[in-house]
Amino acid sequence: MHQAALTLDPAFRVAPVQRRTFGTFVEHLGRCVYTGIYEPGHPTADEDGFRADVLELTRELGVSTVRYPGGNFVSGYRWEDGVGPKELRPRRLDLAWHSTETNEVGVDEFVRWCRKAGVEPMMAVNLGTRGIEAALDLLEYCNHPSGTALSDRRIAGGAKEPHDVRMWCLGNEMDGPWQTGHKTAAEYGRLAAETARAMRMIDPKLELVACGSSSSSMPTFGAWEAEVLTHTYDVVDYISCHAYYEEKDGDLGSFLACATDMEFFIRSVAATADHVGAKLKSRKRIDISFDEWNVWYLSRFQNADPPSDWPVAPRLLEDHYHLADAVAVGGLLITLLRHSDRVRAASLAQLVNVIAPIMTEPGGRAWKQTTFHPFAQASRYASGDVLRVEPVCPSYETAAYGQVPLLHAVATHDERSTTVFAINRATDRPMELRIDARALGGARVVEASTLSAPDVYARNTADDPGRVAPRPNPDVRHDPETVVLPPVSWNVIRLG
Ligand code: AHR
Repeated sequence: MHQAALTLDPAFRVAPVQRRTFGTFVEHLGRCVYTGIYEPGHPTADEDGFRADVLELTRELGVSTVRYPGGNFVSGYRWEDGVGPKELRPRRLDLAWHSTETNEVGVDEFVRWCRKAGVEPMMAVNLGTRGIEAALDLLEYCNHPSGTALSDRRIAGGAKEPHDVRMWCLGNEMDGPWQTGHKTAAEYGRLAAETARAMRMIDPKLELVACGSSSSSMPTFGAWEAEVLTHTYDVVDYISCHAYYEEKDGDLGSFLACATDMEFFIRSVAATADHVGAKLKSRKRIDISFDEWNVWYLSRFQNADPPSDWPVAPRLLEDHYHLADAVAVGGLLITLLRHSDRVRAASLAQLVNVIAPIMTEPGGRAWKQTTFHPFAQASRYASGDVLRVEPVCPSYETAAYGQVPLLHAVATHDERSTTVFAINRATDRPMELRIDARALGGARVVEASTLSAPDVYARNTADDPGRVAPRPNPDVRHDPETVVLPPVSWNVIRLG
């Protein structure tokens, strides 16, 4: 048995839990929109064609915000195609995913779906093939109350009240050569700054996100953020980070430690932003919107043959997650929470069918992947303040990151309870975790659950959706509070 310990003290406060940490992402990609959130004719479809089973699972997942409509898709998107009478909407080639976009769902449907799901919409504008004018038009269409051509067009389409979208992404992954309209940092920085300035002329209180790097391994990483923020510092609130992880060459140990890269990513971007702020003699602080993150078996996607035709809503990026993927996702969530003082928004990419916690069958069931569970539990139980916890535990050697602690953990605390979120990365043995809760006035462990399985590659399926799910952890002792964490597990421990 490995031995580990951590101390909980409400005095060691990082920041309030940011609800926007629990955001996700809906892109016009594969079956995320069509046969994902939207499927008229499905047995559960409502009057708008939205799948009620997916809406229910979205609520259960505890999603706070949803980013839309892309992703790479947005860099070729004409938002006007998706408004007005459906029968008049054009079909277009989507270059990003080699698909045909029918435009049956557009911004109005998306916002209506968000209201039903109880989530905040977060919109991206196209700075790939388009620019300032299209961004301004979309903003006016969405947020202006009435009395202009664009706002009245929204009202004529049935949306009387403004959509009131507060958070806007200025393009998507503009550092990536795969992006339609890919730009250098200087080109993008100028365009993003001018777009932001113009958008603020409509509404100075918008929250604007400049594109950061598509991953920490991009050749321009660091330099990109510095240049982009030099142009945009005064007019944006966030810089974005995107990161996807996968198990490579059977190296499970490195994969389970992937949050180490996310940690490096966040620290580096925060330091770069602060450096730019110092050079500009600015008192303002730029926060991080980690608006794409997940496990994605990207190398399999890259090695697959591209479609030879232009299908509508093809099966793309339908990764089928196992237990170890869920534990990795849990580790990434822990890291996002640990940095709540700087990461003030995040989006699990994506919500349905496309590298997603929720899967659907056209005309059939909706079910939960393994990765559904850490997200749902973290969203449900993280409340109040994030506490700094510094576990004492053995470490292990990884090929990707060197020595990494076997235990990765964070805690949150409010007046009613304290919750520890922890992953045990050990593949060989359980871990006995001793929790020093003296500063909590004698609080005891009242509930502990664990997500684990005898086979780390166990998956859920439509026929067996409950195979990998959190179960009560029977290995709890008191005085001192002690919980045994199974090997390769995600754990939620509640004290009160
Ligand atoms: O989430 C899938 C894709 O990953 C997004 O479209 C893009 O922004 C990123 O590369």
